[in-house]
Amino acid sequence: MRILFIGDVVGAPGRKMIKEYTMKLKQTYKPTITIINGENAASGKGITEKIYKGFLDAGAQVVTLGNHSWDNREIFEFIDRAKALIRPANYPTGVPGKGYTLVKINDIEIAVVNVMGRTFLQPIDCPFTKMDEILEEIKERTPYIFVDFHAEATSEKQAMGWYLDGRVSAVVGTHTHVQTSDERVLPKGTAFLTDVGMTGPYDGILGVEKEPVLHKFLTNLPARFEVAEGRAQLSGVVIDLDPKTGLAKSVKRILINDDHPFYT
Ligand SMILES: [Fe+2]
Ligand SMILES: [Fe+2]
Repeated sequence: MRILFIGDVVGAPGRKMIKEYTMKLKQTYKPTITIINGENAASGKGITEKIYKGFLDAGAQVVTLGNHSWDNREIFEFIDRAKALIRPANYPTGVPGKGYTLVKINDIEIAVVNVMGRTFLQPIDCPFTKMDEILEEIKERTPYIFVDFHAEATSEKQAMGWYLDGRVSAVVGTHTHVQTSDERVLPKGTAFLTDVGMTGPYDGILGVEKEPVLHKFLTNLPARFEVAEGRAQLSGVVIDLDPKTGLAKSVKRILINDDHPFYT
């Protein structure tokens, strides 16, 4: 039982990396399920139905989102029919879409949960109690539970890892766009990585052109950010689970760029 998860896809450069590498990664690692975070997939802001379907065509079974879920207004038209698309679960009741999904693969159900932090992000319902509620709903159905915790603060992410240790298969962070090197299996068996990193421009600042960002830092004036052009990278993680318990056996980071080439 193996999970492949690919972090925040940013704009056209990120989508190009998904097209180029998802099948290669699937051939190499043979994951049971492939999951992509697509919150920045449409010009860095949100996702469209065409892009969502493109990710499924590229080999993903689930697409997760984050604080940028609603940035492209098209989401409101298609989120409720997009079965494999999930947004953070701890939005208030009545917000369109859903926060988790159960995917059946070879007669095995795998739960994929998206939840969002609230430290240095917009106020939202408590992600910890929301996870308790979700686990209560799904724990009888499957021991295979993957959590994409979309959060800014490293401390909040580590807290979620410890909070869910032994209760879910994996807690992997998204949102900061920079891959951390702290992957581990926690003592009770949950795989953890603070942030999987971003799939998109390699030479920008978190995926956007560096000049406007520099201008903003140097002058404190507002600036218009565009997705950076040029070289791109892919960030992901592969997690192996014990088929009996659903707990993690190993976790391995993937980083593909010109400085870290991918060898099959
Ligand atoms: Fe992001
Ligand atoms: Fe984000």
